[in-house]
Amino acid sequence: MAVNDFIQENKDRFLNELLDLLRIPSVSADPKFKDDVFAAANFVKESMEKAGADTVEICETAGYPIVYGEKIIDPSLPTVLVYGHYDVQPADPYELWDSPPFEPVIKKTAIHPEGAIFARGSADDKGQFYMYVKAFEAMMAAGDLPCNVKFMIEGEEEVGSDNLEKFVIENKEKLQADVILISDTHMISMQDPSITVGLRGMAYMEVEVTGSNRDLHSGTYGGAVANPINVLCEMIASMKDENDHITIPGFYDKVQELTAAQRERLNQAPFDLKEYQDKLDIDDVHGEKGYTTIERVGIRPTLDVNGIWGGYIGEGAKTVLPSKAHAKISMRLVPDQDWHEISELFENYFKSIAPKSVKVKVKPHHGGAPAVVSDSSVGYKAAEAAMEETFGKKPIPTREGGSIPIVALFQKELGSDPILFGFGLDTDALHSPNEHYGVKNYFIGIETIAAFFRHFKELSNQ
Ligand code: BES
Ligand code: ZN
Repeated sequence: MAVNDFIQENKDRFLNELLDLLRIPSVSADPKFKDDVFAAANFVKESMEKAGADTVEICETAGYPIVYGEKIIDPSLPTVLVYGHYDVQPADPYELWDSPPFEPVIKKTAIHPEGAIFARGSADDKGQFYMYVKAFEAMMAAGDLPCNVKFMIEGEEEVGSDNLEKFVIENKEKLQADVILISDTHMISMQDPSITVGLRGMAYMEVEVTGSNRDLHSGTYGGAVANPINVLCEMIASMKDENDHITIPGFYDKVQELTAAQRERLNQAPFDLKEYQDKLDIDDVHGEKGYTTIERVGIRPTLDVNGIWGGYIGEGAKTVLPSKAHAKISMRLVPDQDWHEISELFENYFKSIAPKSVKVKVKPHHGGAPAVVSDSSVGYKAAEAAMEETFGKKPIPTREGGSIPIVALFQKELGSDPILFGFGLDTDALHSPNEHYGVKNYFIGIETIAAFFRHFKELSNQ
């Protein structure tokens, strides 16, 4: 039976298996879900074995394990390495979900008239990496696996992939491949397929501002003693100027400026500002002066508060000057910013702008390097040909704002540019309530992956 026939005949099962995986709440950020994260690793292992992998191992790390599996049919054939992650972001706030995040349901939407799977991790990244397991199963069942395949599916991507570097360095031989595929990004739309060629890096910080040694009556002390929440807000506000330019000294020193021609090319990608605003229900966009929305997301760094807390947030009102205020702040980075350097610049600057009336602590959380990948490699050409076959249109190279720390690590340690072969959409609500992944995206992804294997083998032989 041909690969695509096998996919068609097994559609229901392929979908149901993904739903089973989505039922496991593998939230890596919250220790409460520890057993579930391990359970997800086991699920992945078993599904690779069932699909026909020869060797499948759960590789322990200092954190959550990496599931490695392979099928080497002939060492003289090209080898494809697949990377993905089975961990997911926290589902909070639960009350904003229309259906429980770990009880997947399929619903039609305007963008997904054929239905989308609503569940945490459906697009990021379970639905996307699982396409490889199914494409592999279909190719095996059809007796038509054109390349060797290696899988490396980790469980800590959403918390910075801290233990991955060691694993990659220690297992270079095992991970050797002719191309690396990662499906953990977006396309422009179903009508405008695209392949990501740039991702931002990340430096994530947590700050604590302390005023008095205990909470105070805001009448007795208000106006005379620093309120750490007020101070924290002022400090954060002062980290950007009126043009939304970040004020940390040295922050932009290593930012690569693109040429006018490069910027023009980037801005040629289909993008409708009105539609973008409408989908988000906003009347205007907001960002660094002098740059378009595509550029603000693709080639410019940011500084954003992800969470801020302190004081009284319960029912009713309480008059209090809190002793402490906290914030989690992320900076998205672009080539050639170094996240260790940026973390240090942030820490020094944050401490330098703190008034004497408070004490501050800065704790760097995690980070990752930005990456730009080639759009002329054999792998890219094969991905382009595969998408052209299934979408009927040549994909456009794009730069995206998210981060996948392993991309730069693969470039450095394995000397290879991964192909960012994402099939999600930016409306899939990643990291938000009601995350979803189109059923059609899932199946077209499986078919495109199988097509990639064929094209990659052909192009590698030329
Ligand atoms: N799948 C995303 C990365 C992504 C999202 C790329 C959207 C392109 C567009 C990934 O799982 C993710 O969320 N990564 C984190 C990394 C961080 C924790 C270092 C991110 O970008 O916040
Ligand atoms: Zn992801």
